[in-house]
Amino acid sequence: MKAIQINQTGDTDVIKYVDIERPTPEKTQVLIKTSAIGVTYGDIMVQHGVYPIMPDLPATLGFECSGIVESVGEDVTDLVVGQSVAVMGTMGCYAEYVVADATMVMPVPDSIDKDLVAAFPITYLTAYHMLHSMGRIEKGQTILLYAAAGGVGTAVIQLARLAGVNVIGLTSSDDKASYAKEQGASHVINYKTEDVVQRVKELTDGKGVNLVLNSLAGNTLARDFEVLANMGQIIWFGFSAGYPQENLTEVVGNHFMKSTGIRTFTLYNIFENQEIFSSSFKVLLNYLNEGKIKPHIHEILPLAEAARAHQLMESSVVKGRLVLKP
Ligand SMILES: NC(=O)c1ccc[n+]([C@@H]2O[C@H](COP(=O)([O-])OP(=O)(O)OC[C@H]3O[C@@H](n4cnc5c(N)ncnc54)[C@H](OP(=O)(O)O)[C@@H]3O)[C@@H](O)[C@H]2O)c1
Repeated sequence: MKAIQINQTGDTDVIKYVDIERPTPEKTQVLIKTSAIGVTYGDIMVQHGVYPIMPDLPATLGFECSGIVESVGEDVTDLVVGQSVAVMGTMGCYAEYVVADATMVMPVPDSIDKDLVAAFPITYLTAYHMLHSMGRIEKGQTILLYAAAGGVGTAVIQLARLAGVNVIGLTSSDDKASYAKEQGASHVINYKTEDVVQRVKELTDGKGVNLVLNSLAGNTLARDFEVLANMGQIIWFGFSAGYPQENLTEVVGNHFMKSTGIRTFTLYNIFENQEIFSSSFKVLLNYLNEGKIKPHIHEILPLAEAARAHQLMESSVVKGRLVLKP
């Protein structure tokens, strides 16, 4: 079968379109023929060798896809051959076939567009659990959202709008700012040209925001504390700009009298709890089916052009998700 693999980490020239053997499912696994594949920022991190859980090399990239069940292991009882499914949190999706543990494979109705299904699980589950399970966000509150025009950003805006929550988005271009507003953001700040702290204070009448969703880290976390309202919190969920450069103990201490806090979030902890994972996936699938949420697909490319997809992601031009077709 055709697959996208890396033999070493580095720039996009490490990405190779290769022929490899089709995998065979073990007892608790499922073999899926992929229909469409989502390109995630996690894939960019694996390519560069900076993902927190690095696979052994050579590795087939890809964390999520839609597809059809081709065969099931002997202990799998709740999935059948021919069923439409979504796969998530499983490496190896950049291929014509992928094997996944049955717990990471969710049935989806045949009627939902397979490209949308591929573009949706990781972004919307991440957004949903940050807003509701972790952030406990309430109607009328305001959040500050990094990478507002990206995959997770789009999902956060759409789910926040459904919950009556205001979003102030951050992005790097006016084009992406217009897009984030179309998705439902109340305000968008171009962090390259505007003073983020001053703008957030203006937009919140000096009160600050209740929740910051920060996927960048780097040198941004100290600034987040400046724009938090009393009793607000930061959810730090990514490293797009590298590990934090600040002394976080000192930063938290400087804001002691605001009762603020910072916590991390990773979707893997949701995947570990099958009940929460499965029930929240169903909620989101219903939203998708009812048109309450709509993943934005920036472009669909052939699987063979995965390297170009990664170049697009790295050049920060992508709005929503890129999708690969095997
Ligand atoms: N913790 C979890 O479970 C979890 C799950 C899913 C995703 N994530 C994280 O969430 C973030 C978004 O993921 P995604 O797949 O939806 O990607 P994405 O947001 O579509 O793409 C990344 C965006 O980050 C922004 N960015 C700002 N500074 C950057 C820098 N120094 N280097 C690269 N990008 C920079 C860019 O948008 P602007 O140009 O507009 O700034 C870029 O478009 C990633 O950090 C990812 O690792 C975490």
